[in-house]
Amino acid sequence: MKIATILGTRPEIIKMAPIIDEISKRNINQIVLHTGQHYDKEMSDNFFSDLEIQNPDYNIHVGSGTHGKQTGLMMKGIEEVLMDEKPDIVLVQGDTNAVLAGALVASKLHIAIGHVEAGLRSFDMTMPEEVNRRACDVTSTMYFIPTEESAINLLAEGFSHKNLIITGNTVVDACFRHLEIAKKRGFEEESIKKLNIENMENILTLTMHRAENVDDKQRITNIIEALKELNDVDIIFPIHPRTKNTLQKFGLFDELNNLEHVHIIKPLGYLDFLLLTSKSTLILTDSGGLQEEAITLNVPALTLRYNTERPETVTAGGNILVGSDKERIIKYTHKILNDKEFSDKMKNAINPYGQGESAKLTVDAIEDYYKKGLLDIKA
Ligand code: UD1
Ligand code: UDP
Repeated sequence: MKIATILGTRPEIIKMAPIIDEISKRNINQIVLHTGQHYDKEMSDNFFSDLEIQNPDYNIHVGSGTHGKQTGLMMKGIEEVLMDEKPDIVLVQGDTNAVLAGALVASKLHIAIGHVEAGLRSFDMTMPEEVNRRACDVTSTMYFIPTEESAINLLAEGFSHKNLIITGNTVVDACFRHLEIAKKRGFEEESIKKLNIENMENILTLTMHRAENVDDKQRITNIIEALKELNDVDIIFPIHPRTKNTLQKFGLFDELNNLEHVHIIKPLGYLDFLLLTSKSTLILTDSGGLQEEAITLNVPALTLRYNTERPETVTAGGNILVGSDKERIIKYTHKILNDKEFSDKMKNAINPYGQGESAKLTVDAIEDYYKKGLLDIKA
């Protein structure tokens, strides 16, 4: 059996790492194809070393661009590799443009597709991620689903229960394994060492990059207004390149960077970032993966969005949607900082994403399908 894994952005590398590792432990033939959507060292290469996985066999270097250009270039590059390699199954993860491109190409070559983290829905078709994940689900053969809620989404859309495999989320596998390594190693990057976070009373870790926040001047301004007022907490902000670009374009970067309680640093490697989040009092984010990691690490999360495809984190009580609403951001940050009962309740939310065995369950299922001939979708 040959498995081809397609990835292209930071979260895909992190969430596919446990699966790549599991495939290699079982000596299954595998190829890893990087689309090149993320290319800065701190958005890509660092994760292969931090997560101790093989470097990609192929990189098609699509770089940045409009959705059409990026997806088109990915399709061309992926098609060439798949025609040559002829894998039995193609794995894609989540909802980025690589997922859409990989799914379209593989389905037309009649290669089985395994969608890792299938079934998530924000029900907001203005998000590029919602379009990508829905299109992929239409073409997939195997669905590796993090929770029952996500399985229900697929059942409601008419997908057969036969190919829905509830695995939990591989983010838990990665988190459990690497947090221990990170704790032993300590911080590595100078930018975070220099901050001496041990001397900080409360840490708010901030990440944001979602197009609907950072490309919208009004929304990003509202968020910054809230950050300015939160001067009773140290805010550590490893900034995504997209966000740095748009803040500079809107003329907002210097003002934020000059605030004494806001520490803007480059994106961190996975081990440094895990260690930082595990030591944080709260997380303020619009990231998908971070909503999952927060509940895994028992850190309260406030999500800078009005909807989420991770509603389990909200119903479990570990995550609150605050949108880009200045008053809500300030109110809930203060509640977490000052109301111990409230923050303890958030910390104790039960993690809905499994116990860290997601990669094992995923590869077990692939081997089972292969043995039964179910990956031969032309049959
Ligand atoms: C992409 C995904 C998003 C995911 C995020 C993870 C899509 C549609 N979006 O968004 O779902 O949550 O990755 O971080 O697939 N840039 C750099 N260096 C890099 C990469 C990007 O400077 O290594 C800058 C470029 O100016 C680029 C911008 O960031 O135009 C946005 O990058 P892009 O890959 O288009 O989208 P992300 O916002 O990263
Ligand atoms: N992350 C990281 N360094 C950082 C910021 C985030 O390693 O400076 C990791 C984080 O632990 C999580 C993933 O990146 O696993 C989330 O990626 P991102 O927010 O870019 O994408 P999303 O999950 O929203 O698709």
